[in-house]
Amino acid sequence: MILVTGDTHRFTDFKKLKSPTLSHLTKEDYLIIVGDCGVLFFPNTDKEAIEEYNALPFTVLFVDGNHENFDALYAYPVEMWNGGKVHRLASHVIHLMRGQVFEIEGKTFFTFGGGLSIDKAYREPHVSWWPQELPTEEEIQEGLSNLAKHKNKVDFVLTHDCPSSLLSVVGLYSFKAQGGFLKFAKSNEALERIYAVLDFTHWYFGHYHIDQFFTEKFTCLYQDVIQILP
Ligand SMILES: [Fe+2]
Repeated sequence: MILVTGDTHRFTDFKKLKSPTLSHLTKEDYLIIVGDCGVLFFPNTDKEAIEEYNALPFTVLFVDGNHENFDALYAYPVEMWNGGKVHRLASHVIHLMRGQVFEIEGKTFFTFGGGLSIDKAYREPHVSWWPQELPTEEEIQEGLSNLAKHKNKVDFVLTHDCPSSLLSVVGLYSFKAQGGFLKFAKSNEALERIYAVLDFTHWYFGHYHIDQFFTEKFTCLYQDVIQILP
């Protein structure tokens, strides 16, 4: 079984992963967090945090968001897993890197993390904020090239941010949840370029701290834990 949910922010929004409704799952099942996992954030206690995520009954997969310690994350070796590049933090805690196509339970998933921290002015570089949060041109090109190898068609898309063309409608719902801020970012532009070439069934994203279905194609997730569409 494959489930998907929104930001966990390390332990701030972790409770949803401990829900009794998930206790029957096994390590053969996957719970995907669409960014802001935050399991790597404070180096002094990261080890304990990873152990707690790894102790969940299911396998945790995550795309990166903007609240991740990218210096710590990128220090892990890159491995291939199910067709794409990952960082394996523990046996059952796996980071799905940007611009990759994975095959899981017979379905294809395109992943592309990253997003803008609207509060970065109040954060300290490489301590509580990391410039790697925004995608680079190289990562966008790698994503486009990997998609081309799949004829620009996947079953599902997993991102932290959303394409820019969706931003105005997302903003109608999330402006309050984001504390009155909503900023166009390079991540929106990158995802719009990907959206322009991509044929997909459904796109799941996080970042905006709302649980909302947009059109038939997009779902923003925060606290909801849902089964991926069949
Ligand atoms: Fe978040």
